[in-house]
Amino acid sequence: MKPNAQFWDKVALKYAAQPISNPDAYEQTLDRVVSYLKPTDRVLELGCGTGSTALKLAPHTGSILATDFSEGMIAQAEAKMGVDNVRFLQADTFSPLLEDGSFDVVMGFNLYHLVERIDEAMARVHDLLVPGGVFISKTPCIGERSLGLKFGLLKRLIPLMQLVGKAPFVRFETIAGLEARIANAGFEIIETGNYPLRPPNHFVVARRL
Ligand SMILES: C[S@@+](CC[C@H](N)C(=O)[O-])C[C@H]1O[C@@H](n2cnc3c(N)ncnc32)[C@H](O)[C@@H]1O
Repeated sequence: MKPNAQFWDKVALKYAAQPISNPDAYEQTLDRVVSYLKPTDRVLELGCGTGSTALKLAPHTGSILATDFSEGMIAQAEAKMGVDNVRFLQADTFSPLLEDGSFDVVMGFNLYHLVERIDEAMARVHDLLVPGGVFISKTPCIGERSLGLKFGLLKRLIPLMQLVGKAPFVRFETIAGLEARIANAGFEIIETGNYPLRPPNHFVVARRL
């Protein structure tokens, strides 16, 4: 198993018990996502964690396949109340279990700062979507300068935490850098926002060209 997946397996139980860190920003994000969902959409969520977001979005769309590469996260998700149109699956972006051109919407929240092969991952998202399909993501952009005192400090501690296995791979991405990656993977960006503004958790909606 990949070392990064092992890290998330170990923290899955604790992650499931954590309250949402910024409920206003979370609700704002859900509202924006719902505005893009149609009742017939086949939605794929990557890095779904313990599945809460998929379960909340389920009434607004056709079906959701919610995936995560961590067995522990998927076990926590499956332990939640079943919803007919949501299925959980242990898989990462490159899994052969996911069929190219078979999703109307692909989503990844709080994920892309953690993905090592980010450009390849975004190219796969492009291929997983139908032409004209929508990619919705939200990514902490901790490469930005104005993070605030607490996160500025935390950012400096990440390399030390990684040395002792207390942090996974983390990319110090900027907003401009992230948007360029998405556009280069063959998308037209149609909406952006920051929920919250500081530290910026950058919301991007992009259409497959
Ligand atoms: C910070 S959590 C976010 C979970 C959820 N999306 C949320 O917003 O609460 C990151 C999740 O991404 C998963 N993850 C990290 N890297 C991944 C990768 N390369 N492929 C698939 N899942 C990944 C982890 O297992 C973890 O569940």
